[in-house]
Amino acid sequence: METLDLQSKVHDEARQGEAYAPFAFDENQYKKHFYIESYGCQMNFSDSEIVASILNEQGFGATRNVEEADLVLLNTCSIREKAEQTVRKRLTEFRKAKDQKPGLLIGVLGCMAERLKAKLLEEEKLVDLVVGPDAYRTLPGLIEEAETGQKAVNVLLSREETYADISPVRLDSNGVTAFVSIMRGCNNMCSFCVVPFTRGRERSRDAYSIVAEASDLYNRGYKEVTLLGQNVDSYYWVNDNGSETVTFANLLERVALISTDLRVRFSTSHPKDITDEVLFTMAKYENICKYIHLPIQSGNTRVLQLMNRTYTREWYLAKVDRIREILPDCGISSDIIAGFCTETEEEHQDTLSAMAYSKYDMSYMFFYSERPGTLAERRYTDDIPEEVKKRRLQEIVDLQGKLSKESNQKDLGKTFKVLIEGNSKRSDDDWMGRNSQNKVIVFPKGNYNLKKGDYVQVKVNDCTQATLIGEIIAI
Ligand code: SAH
Ligand code: SF4
Ligand code: F3S
Repeated sequence: METLDLQSKVHDEARQGEAYAPFAFDENQYKKHFYIESYGCQMNFSDSEIVASILNEQGFGATRNVEEADLVLLNTCSIREKAEQTVRKRLTEFRKAKDQKPGLLIGVLGCMAERLKAKLLEEEKLVDLVVGPDAYRTLPGLIEEAETGQKAVNVLLSREETYADISPVRLDSNGVTAFVSIMRGCNNMCSFCVVPFTRGRERSRDAYSIVAEASDLYNRGYKEVTLLGQNVDSYYWVNDNGSETVTFANLLERVALISTDLRVRFSTSHPKDITDEVLFTMAKYENICKYIHLPIQSGNTRVLQLMNRTYTREWYLAKVDRIREILPDCGISSDIIAGFCTETEEEHQDTLSAMAYSKYDMSYMFFYSERPGTLAERRYTDDIPEEVKKRRLQEIVDLQGKLSKESNQKDLGKTFKVLIEGNSKRSDDDWMGRNSQNKVIVFPKGNYNLKKGDYVQVKVNDCTQATLIGEIIAI
């Protein structure tokens, strides 16, 4: 019998780059099993941990082995066309698994489910379940429905759902770093972006439930939490009687105060919303990591206006200056789109010069992919030929390579406090960790009796474009 290699890592076009399947935990405890793969941004990975929690309650254990699964779930991304193609390809691979096991249920979760709704059932005949990002609580009922042979769909978006009370089941965790969702949805209307349509209105999660989740992680040995939202700076929570309000800066502080040993990161910041208060809070606490992901998208004001980013080139670059002034050792990274509608060569050059000015440590770089239903699709023509988009993207990638290398070379000879996340990919004799600026550092374990989750002082002796290479100088 032919077996499918469904364990293999799938390369994804979206931000985080990789899809994954979870560990099989407590295998014997559960009669039924689900297999889940996640695509897209960290929010989606974080949502899969909510889904895992809901399914565990329902008697489904996670498995890494699709042949053991009664339910196969793909948590999908719609951000670019390629991300959707990857999922469609994956679905055709699952057809074989379904042929071998006719009772197997296949579900599509996340942004593609939301975007395509019941259409997905017509397009992909083998799909039994379609569940949008705000409807995961209804999964148990939908699974029951699907088990009786009906197709089950729930893609209702909510103005309130934050899954605040659901304790995520950590999937494929290194036991050291974890994501904590602090808000859902997005109220910005960047004209290229499908997220407001797939994730709905912005809402902030109860601050107490966030601090409780981060404390619980710390008590279980985790040493780093990343607070997640599409636009974390607009986090704003008000309690029921309106007597207490919490801004993002307040929330950062509350999480930082859990323990000086617990690192705090966050993503994503919108240049229009990040405040001095946030920067000063970062400066005040050593355990708030000095790293900001500040997507520019384009370095040209006219293009930024078409993108509806609501800032100009000058505003953005002034933000970079402000960050460097308040946090001189802060790492900065970006998202960049090449070849947006009507972008001229000169305007593309503005993106390159803004990158050089900002000296990004790293960037996620894409060429524009028109998404159905977005403002850009309705208002503008996707008129930059693909080869021009690709050439511009290559220039952006090349420049970023140079900037990353320069940034890493500046760190030669410096010593950083590093949180050990695990073995290096290349060798079990080396540790891999990150510094506050989010740079990956690899270094020999030596004769120290260290374990993952420990902090260690590492001196940088060498580097590549992507990695610092160092040695332990103190523990
Ligand atoms: N909320 C985050 C980004 C979420 S999407 C923010 O506002 O920064 C991640 C990145 O994907 C975006 O920053 C953008 O660079 C890219 N992206 C979004 N829509 C895209 C599209 N239609 N084509 C190409 N890249 C896109
Ligand atoms: Fe999309 Fe803009 Fe919202 Fe980010 S801020 S998710 S790019 S609409
Ligand atoms: Fe993709 Fe949805 Fe995230 S479209 S980037 S998975 S919010």
